[in-house]
Amino acid sequence: MGGKIRLDRLIASQMGGVSRADVKKMCLKKRISVNGKLVRRSDAHVDTDDEILLDGKKVEYKKYIYIMLNKPQGVVCSTKEGESRTVIDLVPEKLRRKGLFPAGRLDKDTEGFVLLTDDGELSHKMLSPKSHVPKTYFVRLAKPWDETYKEKFAQGMTIDGGEKCLPAKFEGSGENDRECTLILHEGKFHQVKRMFKKLGNEVVYLRRVAIGNVNLRQDLALGECLEMLHKDVENLLAK
Ligand code: URA
Repeated sequence: MGGKIRLDRLIASQMGGVSRADVKKMCLKKRISVNGKLVRRSDAHVDTDDEILLDGKKVEYKKYIYIMLNKPQGVVCSTKEGESRTVIDLVPEKLRRKGLFPAGRLDKDTEGFVLLTDDGELSHKMLSPKSHVPKTYFVRLAKPWDETYKEKFAQGMTIDGGEKCLPAKFEGSGENDRECTLILHEGKFHQVKRMFKKLGNEVVYLRRVAIGNVNLRQDLALGECLEMLHKDVENLLAK
């Protein structure tokens, strides 16, 4: 037994753009069956393990959804509608749900991996300062990096007059002296940019390429989303 829930609530929570009032109409039009029987009342209680069909097609029940987004520049990590497009605007209808929000923010001009979920518990674990989930960034700099950077990041830097950062892992690119990778175990405001500023350099391009052990899929174009597999969701918290 998966647990009892109202039919209209279940369908509206799983299908983007479908309201409870819509489910009521669907029931009246005999479009919904539960375990092989037509259901006339949308307020009927069903089990989340029941076989629910809408127009003969199965309505899957997933308690939470986890979406990998490749965020483009110019889009903000917020759920509020303002002047800018938000990450939520990029989620296709079929993956939309109430309560979807970005678990961790990227700046408007940063690209890359944003996790969108309605799982508050996972999000809390990821964002908690104690969790230390690694986040990997690809960085392009205004000036060449030098050999001292590795040690300075590894020691833990102090930025902006006193904010202490945890040790971070710097890896210069073997091919380009303005490109590198940085792994942080925390997420202070504008942290990557502020750390390189401290070294007298400047970040000109930033992309998050991994969270925990999960890499941003290389075949995911900017602005595109995909639903993550359950085994990958566990890897998000890997240290
Ligand atoms: N650090 C930054 O400076 N910006 C981001 O978007 C993420 C990490």
